[in-house]
Amino acid sequence: MTQPTLSQPIDLPCGATVKNRFGKSAMSETLGTTDNRATSKLATLYQSWAEGGTGLLISGNVMIDRRHLGEPNNVVLENEESLDAIRQWAKAGTQNGAHLWVQLNHPGKQTPKLLTKQSVAPSAVPFKAELRSYFNTPRELTETEILDIIKRFGHSAALAKKAGFTGVQIHGAHGYLVSQFLSSHHNQRTDQWGGSLENRMRFVICVYEEIRQQVGNDYPVSIKLNSADFQRGGFSEDESMEVAEQLANLGLDLLEISGGTYESPEMTGLNVRDSTRQREAYFLDYAQKIRQRISIPLMVTGGFRTDAGMRDALASGATDFIGLGRPLALEPDLPNRIMAGDKVTSVVKPIRTGIKMADDSAMMETMFYTHQIGRIAKGKKTKPHENSIISMLRAFALITFRTTKTKRLRA
Ligand SMILES: Cc1cc2nc3c(=O)[nH]c(=O)nc-3n(C[C@H](O)[C@H](O)[C@H](O)COP(=O)(O)O)c2cc1C
Repeated sequence: MTQPTLSQPIDLPCGATVKNRFGKSAMSETLGTTDNRATSKLATLYQSWAEGGTGLLISGNVMIDRRHLGEPNNVVLENEESLDAIRQWAKAGTQNGAHLWVQLNHPGKQTPKLLTKQSVAPSAVPFKAELRSYFNTPRELTETEILDIIKRFGHSAALAKKAGFTGVQIHGAHGYLVSQFLSSHHNQRTDQWGGSLENRMRFVICVYEEIRQQVGNDYPVSIKLNSADFQRGGFSEDESMEVAEQLANLGLDLLEISGGTYESPEMTGLNVRDSTRQREAYFLDYAQKIRQRISIPLMVTGGFRTDAGMRDALASGATDFIGLGRPLALEPDLPNRIMAGDKVTSVVKPIRTGIKMADDSAMMETMFYTHQIGRIAKGKKTKPHENSIISMLRAFALITFRTTKTKRLRA
């Protein structure tokens, strides 16, 4: 069998075709208005990514319920109110033959306490001590609320399709609500939604089935799933593979593999072993194993930095898509350059401030790259070498301002 190349198209189980093997992973843009409507900046941003050659663009997390935000200025997709701005976004991001899928999310307990007074989760499990000044201990969801959230995922997916997005992705990774249900650390319920793995995965299966029912069989539905939570008593690799297998059997179109949570941020490359770093991508071992169990397309995200690393991963057969986050936040045209034959090493480097608390969490990376994404959205050039302390101070000021505005609107 010939080995696939980065510029080769790929067919998904639903019948859709993606034109090449580059996938832009979700990166929260926080470019919505304070009352969570899409803005024209999103169209400018995604046009730039579409023109840069990426075949599959996945939006930053879009919330399914305005009462539960991950960050201020998230976009919320829960009714037809502001669908026109969302349509512009979808149109811009599907230029040049690109796919643009919406990542749908509910943060559960991972919502800052300044934004949501009473967060919800499968169980009322507090955060680890270092994070308690940012996040409240959540309240346990009732069964009626769980069923409502499942419906909301389906409804938001239907709206995304109506607005012109070409697929949806469930955010099932990084410690948000879907991933909280899967984890026996965060989910300590004793009803049909907790306990055995079969019960803990009931939520994500129901979410998937509701979405599928709303969008039909010929529309791409994906999930971003943790290969593991890297938390004591949390979601393990074996459990993750079980969940992936079940979803694949139900008709999932693409499994994106990541890992970690705010409490253990493996998705940013913090804590990864040196042997893993040498292979660039953090979750290739998992991909190689799950490949033996399922045949749907895979996208490994996290750590890809060179054209050689990307080609090797694809040639190894471990992944079908090269998932890219931070590299595309600095260089939106990276895929075009690689497909033109350039030898490429991304300018992404670890963002360090020298302040331990910031450097040990995913916070610094997120703030730095969110700002760079904002520059592309304004039609400006990115600044890969910007001073990280300045970037952090500016981000803190902006987040405080936006959070206060959001609070006033919600009061
Ligand atoms: C600014 C920023 C925002 C992010 N927002 C999201 C998000 O909304 N949803 C998600 O699944 N992952 C999010 N991530 C994680 C990325 O999708 C990706 O998994 C991670 O950055 C590792 O890939 P990379 O090494 O190519 O950057 C975000 C990362 C960054 C840097």
